[in-house]
Amino acid sequence: MPDPATPIPPIDQPARLDALEAVVRARTDLVPEVGIVLGSGLGGLADDLEDPVAVPFAELPGWPAATAPGHVGRLLLGRLGGRPVAMLQGRFHLYEGNAPGLVVQPVLLFGRLGARVVVLTNAAGGLDPSFRPGTLMVIRDHLNLTGQNPLLGPNAEAIGERFPDMTDAWSARLRERLHAAGAAEGIALAEGIYVGLLGPNYETPAEVRLYASLGGHAVGMSTVMECIAARWAGLEVCGFSLVTNAGAGYTGEPLSHEEVLAAGAEAGPRLARVIRRFVADLGA
Ligand code: HPA
Repeated sequence: MPDPATPIPPIDQPARLDALEAVVRARTDLVPEVGIVLGSGLGGLADDLEDPVAVPFAELPGWPAATAPGHVGRLLLGRLGGRPVAMLQGRFHLYEGNAPGLVVQPVLLFGRLGARVVVLTNAAGGLDPSFRPGTLMVIRDHLNLTGQNPLLGPNAEAIGERFPDMTDAWSARLRERLHAAGAAEGIALAEGIYVGLLGPNYETPAEVRLYASLGGHAVGMSTVMECIAARWAGLEVCGFSLVTNAGAGYTGEPLSHEEVLAAGAEAGPRLARVIRRFVADLGA
């Protein structure tokens, strides 16, 4: 098993994707239109997959079994709302010690398998004081404050260009469709800017005030690497933060992972309904 912390420069990704693709193609010829990353507490959407084919991370070359609590660790292919999709139940985080180039392989694999659209979801703390636990926030843009980047090192021009544009990183077209799906399901959606950090500790109250003052609306420990790599590979990106708690210091109460999982369990089914509708209506 290769060390998940070993850097993977972009130029090494095509060969690694060849190996990953071969394992998936030995199981199914389904060509996904959409790839979906299910964050903490959101794994339930996987239960909605029709005719699912599941590949445990451990069977995918170079992938460690996901270790974050609340993450299962499987790649799934099947149909959602009648349309072919790939789903990642669990994901790789930087805070687990994974190299950025490993963290982004699932979304690059989505693209390799045929997906043109990626939906990224996460659990996050609320920086906007009006966001109650359970708020579903469509991600409008992000601040990459991890200090990391999955595109460091020699580029693979076959996948994407050296200097990817991030102007429309979080697709305006897809955001509109997410809001339409929310309206169709009668589910209220907020919208805002996701601040991506390394973790694994939650923020200090001073940090929460800083990130809010920078224009952030939600803060978490994932998603930004995947967005950068997906844009590099030419995929269209959209996604959600499920706000599981008020940012540290807002309530005077300490934060806990249990609280995050409980809020995810409560709001996850609502988010699942929006995503299912979004996927079902994509071709319309
Ligand atoms: N901060 C960072 N990540 C998180 C939080 C938080 O408050 N809640 C859930 N994930």
